[in-house]
Amino acid sequence: MAPLTNLQTRAVETLVHPYTNQATFRETGPLVFERGKGVYIYDTDGKSYLEGMAGLWCTALGYDNEELVEAAATQMRKLPFGHLFTGKSHDPAIELAEKLKEIAPVLISKVFFCNSGSEANDSQMKLVWYMNNALGRPNKKKIISRIKAYHGVTIAAASLTGLPNNHIDFDLPIARVLHTACPHYYRFAKDGESEDEFATRLAAELEELILAEGPDTVAAFIAEPVMGAGGVIVPPKTYFAKIMEVCAKYDVFMIDDEVICGFGRLGPMFGCDALGYKPNSISVAKALSSAYMPIAGVMIPEEMYQALIVESKKIGTFGHGFTYSGHPVSAAVAVKTLEIYQRDKIIETARTRMPQFQKRLMALADHPLVGEARGMGMVGALELAADKRARKPLDPKRGVGAQVVGHAQAEGLIVRFIGGDVISICPPMIIQPAEIDELFDKLTRALDKTLDWAKREQLLAA
Ligand SMILES: Cc1ncc(COP(=O)(O)O)c(C=O)c1O
Repeated sequence: MAPLTNLQTRAVETLVHPYTNQATFRETGPLVFERGKGVYIYDTDGKSYLEGMAGLWCTALGYDNEELVEAAATQMRKLPFGHLFTGKSHDPAIELAEKLKEIAPVLISKVFFCNSGSEANDSQMKLVWYMNNALGRPNKKKIISRIKAYHGVTIAAASLTGLPNNHIDFDLPIARVLHTACPHYYRFAKDGESEDEFATRLAAELEELILAEGPDTVAAFIAEPVMGAGGVIVPPKTYFAKIMEVCAKYDVFMIDDEVICGFGRLGPMFGCDALGYKPNSISVAKALSSAYMPIAGVMIPEEMYQALIVESKKIGTFGHGFTYSGHPVSAAVAVKTLEIYQRDKIIETARTRMPQFQKRLMALADHPLVGEARGMGMVGALELAADKRARKPLDPKRGVGAQVVGHAQAEGLIVRFIGGDVISICPPMIIQPAEIDELFDKLTRALDKTLDWAKREQLLAA
């Protein structure tokens, strides 16, 4: 292994890098990036990489949007900071809330701003608890999430997340958070079960869980339209209709986590429209500002807003909010981002390229290393398998997914491997047709090289 450069050594000695194996990282060091342009980012040696993950599923407009830079600079010169506490407000936050209400897929009363998807989902949970206290049902507090869900890493959000690495030795999940089954047909369907039967069974399991816990103790259900970090899991077509029926039956509030799927990723502006359900409240972040500035939002219905008023009449101040809630620079950048989406028809244009993206993705289902290719819109994943026909996973200890990512990197492509040897792909929404081809050409070569290695190592079924 090459010795670490000065910058790599300084990174190793100064930073705790998120989502990194802290032990092996001391040997490997980081890949250090310096600049970006379009859908490409460049490392400190000047090598270019097609950013096949839009950073962390977020840089929808790519890496050199001057208008966003200008929006930030203009706002910084005018009012670099302003808050929304104690009856203060400012134009960028007001305008952003208005825009979000305008484009929302359901009737939204108000928007609460925060800085990250985790904060948004933490806030969702607190707001549901607060609302149910206001409504005089103090026992209705449990939140149901799903196995393999990803809702963030703060204590409540990490509890909602349904992935082992976010719980083990963090002493999570906290009480009153429950997890129901993951709608991944390929992995969890029973022999002979159709997709519709699988969806029916999962809805029945949700109902059983609610009944076992007591419907008067279950407050909310939270879901991403397509699960992202859990493996880009597209549920069966009838899944949400059946799940929503159960939620409605037991008066369970539905929280829609649109942190990845919002702003056109699946085709429509919001993922819930792609999957055909109507949530009660919505979390947004990431592409809200094309990730140029940190900002997230919780979009709440009138019913919840009225509950806040009831509580304020009872106890006074609504005791929730962050210093940077609705930060004017972040809000100004987000307003500009939404304006660009609409003015330049970014989502409509991306929609015309989604069939090409999906076709190239699905073609990789035939690759000997790939068990399942799945996706929707401009997001996808490849689940690697040791035995394609038997759907047998690879030994996670052999790091086959990491090999693919490493070979892709050598090819000049960033993709990510997530739990269970799944390779995820989520490029900026501005990606051009030729760049989609480049992405999949590079990924195919990375898979081929990994296949050669896996065969040598006898990791595949004979
Ligand atoms: C669906 C979803 N919700 C919440 C989060 C957490 O967002 P953040 O990392 O900004 O806290 C993420 C992050 O990837 C996400 O994908």
